[in-house]
Amino acid sequence: MSNDTENLARILEWYIGAGVEETCGDEPMTLGTAPVSVSLKPQINLRAAVSAAPAAPVRQATTPLAQATGNACQNAKDLCASINSMEELRTAMENFDGCALKLTASHTVFGDGNPQARVVFVGEAPGADEDRIGVPFVGRSGHLLDKMLAAIGLDRTQCYICNILPWRPPGNRTPLDSEIAVCLPFLKRQLDLINPDYIFMLGGSAANALLDTPESISRLRGRWLEYVKSDGSKAMVLASFHPAYLLRTPGQKAKAWADFLRLSRQMKGEN
Ligand code: URA
Repeated sequence: MSNDTENLARILEWYIGAGVEETCGDEPMTLGTAPVSVSLKPQINLRAAVSAAPAAPVRQATTPLAQATGNACQNAKDLCASINSMEELRTAMENFDGCALKLTASHTVFGDGNPQARVVFVGEAPGADEDRIGVPFVGRSGHLLDKMLAAIGLDRTQCYICNILPWRPPGNRTPLDSEIAVCLPFLKRQLDLINPDYIFMLGGSAANALLDTPESISRLRGRWLEYVKSDGSKAMVLASFHPAYLLRTPGQKAKAWADFLRLSRQMKGEN
């Protein structure tokens, strides 16, 4: 479209927006006093003129990568919506090709423990040991987690353990937002199917992803939060430090211990 045509189309659109629908000649006149015999120039229908002008090209506010991520998220959501058992979900995750992390991982780390449990522990992503074995929290962090569970009288037969991502990011790098977004529908469906009363988030990234908040783990921990499952029912949520962080920063173990005790008291109805 030439500049002149584009400008004309814009001017005409402006007139239509202002309520002007027709033109009626160049001669000035006072409304209501014009002689009946006044001769009007041929009329132009502005609406017709505008719709005849070629439309300006629509610019998309997106990129191919953002579109691919959006499509993969939608595919994951659609897939999950029709899944009604943990086994179906495991198979769907193993067959899902919307997340490139699967290409570099050895296993899809689905989850471990009792799918009928009242409490689910959610970490960030499998590490090297978990990727090799296919089970969450089996490395050094997992040993510490098992000890903390034991300290409140739980083992893996009384809780369920999974991660935000079922595939290990290469070299244990921080997961990308796009990877989290694509995998989250699977975790959410897993939580729907388990239907826990309590969810314990292990680490800031896991808490941020599931609770959709940017707040730091230091601010999130130590108080009850809420997660709404897809049927509208709620689970009580606690977030605490990731076991790997506690191994590096043992001085924070007392706070994590307080969080585990808070969970235990609540589960026993002692709060
Ligand atoms: N760290 C996690 O967040 N998850 C695991 O499964 C292991 C280590």
